[in-house]
Amino acid sequence: MSKVLVTGGAGYIGSHTALALMETGYEVVVYDNLSTGRAEAVLPPARLVVGDLADTEQLDRLLAQEKFQAIFHFAGSIVVPESVENPLLYYQNNTNNTTELIRLAVHHAIPHFIFSSTAAVYGMPDTPCVTEKSPTNPINPYGRTKLISEWVLQDTAVAHNNFSFVILRYFNVAGADPLGRIGQSTPNATHLIKVASQAALKRRSALHIFGTDYDTPDGTCIRDYIHVTDLAKAHVLSLQYLEQGHASNIFNCGYGHGYSVREIIRAVQKVSQVDFPVIESPRRAGDPPVLVSDPTLIGQTMHWQGEHDDIHEIALSAYKWEMRL
Ligand SMILES: NC(=O)c1ccc[n+]([C@@H]2O[C@H](COP(=O)([O-])OP(=O)(O)OC[C@H]3O[C@@H](n4cnc5c(N)ncnc54)[C@H](O)[C@@H]3O)[C@@H](O)[C@H]2O)c1
Repeated sequence: MSKVLVTGGAGYIGSHTALALMETGYEVVVYDNLSTGRAEAVLPPARLVVGDLADTEQLDRLLAQEKFQAIFHFAGSIVVPESVENPLLYYQNNTNNTTELIRLAVHHAIPHFIFSSTAAVYGMPDTPCVTEKSPTNPINPYGRTKLISEWVLQDTAVAHNNFSFVILRYFNVAGADPLGRIGQSTPNATHLIKVASQAALKRRSALHIFGTDYDTPDGTCIRDYIHVTDLAKAHVLSLQYLEQGHASNIFNCGYGHGYSVREIIRAVQKVSQVDFPVIESPRRAGDPPVLVSDPTLIGQTMHWQGEHDDIHEIALSAYKWEMRL
């Protein structure tokens, strides 16, 4: 059985991926400082090692003791406005810590690295539907820290023949495990479907729409929402792709179609049967009107396809998880 390290595996996407890896037969060790993640999200038989990425001595010992075939690197700081207020935290946690982790992976001859990147690397694209070849032009520190990490990976793979990577650029991740075992538990998460679920449960007094005058059919921004379980599957396929000897590559992760903020609100109101109040607010800086993935490459290369591409299913799973919290 192949053993893999999942950094940030106590967090939202990392915990779903750890589950998918275990269900495929991999042995999983999670490394997480529990800053936003929760120990309960690490389901057995995965083992949790509590530690910070910056503690390279502990990481070094762990990588020396265990024979990992791959590192899945989710751990990081993910809130865009916070990255604007505190960029050095983001450069430290996302760029420096990722660089050190890649250095340790090479040092310990760990052959494969799967990295959580983001559609934020595209910034404000000219076209609504972006391919992996669309220009990267991140407009905030968060996106820049991720893009720099991508470059570190690419340069490292050129210099080290036995090191290969997959970079997955996620669009808007949403939903929860269909069996209700895990979900998004971060208390201050800013994701629309989670926040709408909190409004439906009266944990927020209202939901804000930021901008209703965009050039879209209903004036609100359109995004590509991918179910976290489909995204977890993309990670498993990425490792299998690398294990089969394929070349390092970058893949968009989304469904290729989007929903407006108003459509998402209606979906959450429908599944929760709660007509929570909505406040229309001015635009936020740096929100492109439409950001949708072109998922052709991941579909053709890894035969990935969304099995949960249904906005009501996504909203219902998120809402049910929110109720459990
Ligand atoms: N959620 C999204 O919609 C989305 C979109 C694009 C990209 N991503 C990327 O996916 C990854 C996972 O995001 P998520 O939504 O699961 O976030 P999350 O906050 O739920 O998970 C991050 C995990 O990393 C851990 N962590 C953070 N810094 C650490 C450190 N220094 N040492 C050890 N552990 C640390 C946290 O405790 C947490 O468990 C991130 O890299 C993020 O940039 C997320």
